[in-house]
Amino acid sequence: MNRCGVFDSGIGGLSVASELLKSKLFDEIIYFGDTARVPYGNKNESTIIRYSLEALEFLKNFDIDFLVVACNSASSVAIDELRREAGFPVVGVIEAGVKALDAAKTSNILLTGTKRTIQSNKYQNMLLDLGYQNIISVATPLFVPLVEEGITEGKIVDEVFELYFGDIDKSSIDYVILGCTHYPFLAKSFKKHFPNAKLIHSGQAIVELLKNEYGLKEKSDTSIKLFASDNPEELRSKAKEWLNL
Ligand code: SIN
Repeated sequence: MNRCGVFDSGIGGLSVASELLKSKLFDEIIYFGDTARVPYGNKNESTIIRYSLEALEFLKNFDIDFLVVACNSASSVAIDELRREAGFPVVGVIEAGVKALDAAKTSNILLTGTKRTIQSNKYQNMLLDLGYQNIISVATPLFVPLVEEGITEGKIVDEVFELYFGDIDKSSIDYVILGCTHYPFLAKSFKKHFPNAKLIHSGQAIVELLKNEYGLKEKSDTSIKLFASDNPEELRSKAKEWLNL
């Protein structure tokens, strides 16, 4: 039996869990959302590292063979510490997202994420190392509470898009990296505002990386167990809705 731990700051990581469930690469997925302490994206580095190591400690109780760090903010600052402590492979959404970007080096790339993810420069440095030159990065923290509240389309969302991206020539953007677990739930709105862009989704990128780099193959079925550090009912109801459980 192979088990994958999935760790996120809250419910947004269900966007990654959903792709992992569909891919059937594991017999069992153990999801932990740190709903008591979400969001991580505006906390400082040492706090995010401490929270991430605590999440790892919890998930180790389930004999996991892999850890997927679904939270971009944790992936941006805590991945090295998690790898040191884990004793099994740890895969983060940032590395996966960058590898999934199979684009011309001159493409116009818009990187969106929390303040911590953008300020860490992790995505930007990886993209620059691969030769991408035209990167616009914008911290878009208000998207997290909007998704948490189930508001993913409409007037308020459009106004927040205008607030963050009002100065950008939207039709010139070729790729948008959805650099936060919550953002795939805003995919329709991203498509509306960036009609020519391909969206890079962390969950799909993680599945590709697991197949390509770890040779994981599809199983007959996958089950999932969900844990939250606060308000598990909310996680359960979102999982029912978003994962069709
Ligand atoms: C957050 O915890 O701030 C949002 C999740 C993420 O960064 O992916």
